[in-house]
Order: sequence, then C-alpha cells, then structure tokens
Amino acid sequence: MIKLKISILTLFPEMFSNVFEHSIIKRAKEMGKVEIEIINFRDYSLDSHQKVDDTPFGGGQGMVLSCQPIFDCVEHLRTEKSKVILLTPDGTPYQQKQAYQLSQEEHLIIICGHYEGFDERIRSLVDLEISIGDYILSGGEYASMVLVDSIARLLPGVIKEESHINESFHNHLLDYPTYTKPRVFRGMEVPSVLLSGDHQKIEEYRKKESIKKTKEKRPDLWKEVGEKNEIQD
Ligand code: ADE
Repeated sequence: MIKLKISILTLFPEMFSNVFEHSIIKRAKEMGKVEIEIINFRDYSLDSHQKVDDTPFGGGQGMVLSCQPIFDCVEHLRTEKSKVILLTPDGTPYQQKQAYQLSQEEHLIIICGHYEGFDERIRSLVDLEISIGDYILSGGEYASMVLVDSIARLLPGVIKEESHINESFHNHLLDYPTYTKPRVFRGMEVPSVLLSGDHQKIEEYRKKESIKKTKEKRPDLWKEVGEKNEIQD
C-alpha cells in the first residue's frame, strides 16, 4: 500500500526528469512507500493561450502567477487528507522537525512558484508556506526536491531507524564525527577511543563531540537544546 503521495505543481515538469530515480528516493518508490506525481498546472489554464501569469496591478516589474490555474489544479487534486504547501522565500523556515511531521501525512500537494511572484490570494488556498532558506531561488522546483528528499528518507522502513537516531538534528544536536579505514590517512589519525572496543567510552566520546560541534558550529541550536535539556558542559 502507498503510504505517502506527493503531487508537485510546476510549470517546468522537465526539471524533475530523473531527479527521483536515484538512491533513497528511488528505493522508497520501489518499496511502495511514496508515489510522486509531477503536474504542469499550465494544463489547468482556461486561457485560450494557456497563460498562467499576468502583469501586476499597481505596476512593477515582471509577471505574477495568476490564481485560476493554480486554484483549479489544487481543487481538482485535493481531498480532505491533503496538505497543501506553497514554497516561497517568505514561508516558515524549513527544519528537520517539520520533515518528520510531513512524513506522517497521506497526501502532500506542493506548489512551486515561479517568475516574479504569485497572486497573494493563492495563499488562501494553502495549509503551509515553507521556505528552505533565506535566499531567493528562481522558483520552488529545487525547494520541492529538497522537501521530497528529506521526507521520503523518513518514511518507515526506507532507511534503518537507527540511522535517524544518530543523524544531525535528531536529538537537536549535530552529528558526531565518523571515520572509516584506513586508521591513518596523510598523517591524520582516527581517535584511539574508536578503536578501543569499549562501547561505553565510545558512546561518551560521541556525545561529547556532538555537543562540542553543536556549540562551535551552531551556537543558536546549542542555546536552545542546552537550555531545554539542561545539558552540562
Ligand atoms: N522559492 C524561491 N526561493 C525559495 C526559498 N528560499 N524557499 C522556498 N521556495 C522558494
């Protein structure tokens, strides 16, 4: 049984050819955990030339995505189980916590904006507005790929549960450093504790390194997690 269906609404469906045919997303699809459909919302335009945008009221640069094609497309796809997401730089900043929440849904409809912007009334159609970071992309397509990747890997059974426990952000800390063979590479040695076979020591080392890394690289995250969990240095 398909667990999660994701419908991506875009004007550039070709951008997605092959994107979801690799690695973990490919596996999730093959396992029947996720179904991804790419929909060109231009197909829903009632305009005789299939126009999807127009000039802004009040003047200004560029073209603005119009309501009609997007409203008709979403209304055609949406059921009471759908969550409609608009990708926009002024949305809520995307975080791992939200990836977990979205991985529990049954149907996600993701709208990729493009050009100079979209008619403000499109916001009334959506449940969530998400930004993947404080920078401007030329459209929501790459942002939608980021969302799909981060969600698909969290679907139960797609990767080992254990892997989530150890990865960055799972416990609000950054991941600890990992090494593989050889023990020495260009003079750089693997910390000896990892070769000791002492699992308790290894666990302690990893926790300590995780905290150290979070404090150094993400003091903002550390402030939150340190206060919440009363983790001591
Ligand atoms: N569209 C353009 N920029 C974006 C961003 N940073 N996040 C999500 N969607 C976008």
